[in-house]
Amino acid sequence: MNRWRRGPAPAAATGPDPGPFVMEFRGVGFTYPGPPPVTALGACELTVRRGEFLTVVGPSGSGKSTFLNLAGLLDVPTRGRYLLDGIDTGGLRERERAALRGRRIGFVFQSFHLLPHRSALENVGLALLYTGVPPAERRDRARAALERVGLGHRLHAPPGQLSGGERQRVAVARALVGRPSLLLCDEPTGNLDSASAAAVLSLLDGLHRAGMTVVVITHDPEVAARGGRTVTIRDGRLYERARPA
Ligand SMILES: Nc1ncnc2c1ncn2[C@@H]1O[C@H](COP(=O)(O)OP(=O)(O)O)[C@@H](O)[C@H]1O
Ligand SMILES: [Mg+2]
Repeated sequence: MNRWRRGPAPAAATGPDPGPFVMEFRGVGFTYPGPPPVTALGACELTVRRGEFLTVVGPSGSGKSTFLNLAGLLDVPTRGRYLLDGIDTGGLRERERAALRGRRIGFVFQSFHLLPHRSALENVGLALLYTGVPPAERRDRARAALERVGLGHRLHAPPGQLSGGERQRVAVARALVGRPSLLLCDEPTGNLDSASAAAVLSLLDGLHRAGMTVVVITHDPEVAARGGRTVTIRDGRLYERARPA
């Protein structure tokens, strides 16, 4: 991993210094090749500090999914540079990018993406399958992650026996179990009733208060207002307005 980092190697005793920024977009843009080519994201400047709770809001077609795919290392910018935890992702090969994604980013999607025939515990533990963590520790960490989202009493339930809000909390536990530096959520309350949505949002808020860096992408201004900081995306451009303290 160290060979991907900028600057001099950090002192071994203190471990790698992750730096103040989790995400840095330096003139990042993305153009779908077409034909005809569509520039879905212009040259964006954005930095997200460790521990921030950022929401990205915009109407349909504004570029939110494109932004998510770039931030989540699912797509490669067609211009500019993206640094994740200070690591310049530009020169990485596909496998290196996938490894970085797996280690540093936890995803939460609108539609949960849980395996239907596996328990909550198995769904969460499977996220550690290819990480080299031994099975017993995978189980312990999965249990701890589920306890952290308030589902310690539902470890063995399959998704079909859980409410929508509980399923999304399992998905959050799965995103957390690998100890990511960035929790990237795409419309995390889009499939939930308002009470479950409120519970998931307060869970994200609690994670943020515990130090997690959280980025939530949404079309819903009420969800966006939950962030400590909000960026608006319109026609592939990011706009930020200073909010009164
Ligand atoms: N695969 C694609 N090929 C060409 N254009 C695309 C593709 N995906 C999205 N777009 C266009 O890029 C713009 C942004 O889309 P998207 O990021 O999906 O917006 P949002 O998620 O905010 O609805 C839109 O104009 C959309 O039509
Ligand atoms: Mg979209």
